[in-house]
Amino acid sequence: MTTPPGDTSPPIAPLIALSADYPPEIAVPAIPDDDRVWVPQAPDVWFRPLLLNTVTGQWCNLLKVTRAGIVSRHRHPGAVMGYVVEGKWQYDEHDWVAETGSFVYEPPGEIHTLRVPPDCTQMITFFNILGAMIYVDDHGRQTGYEDTFTKIDMCRAHYGANGLGADYVDQFIR
Ligand SMILES: [Fe+2]
Repeated sequence: MTTPPGDTSPPIAPLIALSADYPPEIAVPAIPDDDRVWVPQAPDVWFRPLLLNTVTGQWCNLLKVTRAGIVSRHRHPGAVMGYVVEGKWQYDEHDWVAETGSFVYEPPGEIHTLRVPPDCTQMITFFNILGAMIYVDDHGRQTGYEDTFTKIDMCRAHYGANGLGADYVDQFIR
């Protein structure tokens, strides 16, 4: 806090003092230059981690799909917000199509089936996911589960094996 020479007015304190213990920010190109950053999660399906939040149980990632057809049927216990970066996709349970530039809100509780239409060869979508992804079959029986911790595990295994190093994921963990 400084006062200009000749200024006799009382110094003005900052209204909000800077804290010392907040976590570092993240600012990276969302679509990586290095394809090794994409983590495989199913045939022709990858995710690129952006934020793996171990405090709120939320994660942000890009999902990339390079084939048409059903990607997954799943239920969310928490809300999901998405933004389509490239391509298009839809849910079998709804009549809308999420296209490049679309924003999507997925309410918690519903089960839906993600499908990439035949005329789309690649889609990339940003998803902010709260809680978990619970994968289910046609009868609603659970076939898989993901949360921010299983995502971290997948990243560590993939980066540890492909030369980036298992600790490459640490930059996305908060
Ligand atoms: Fe979903």
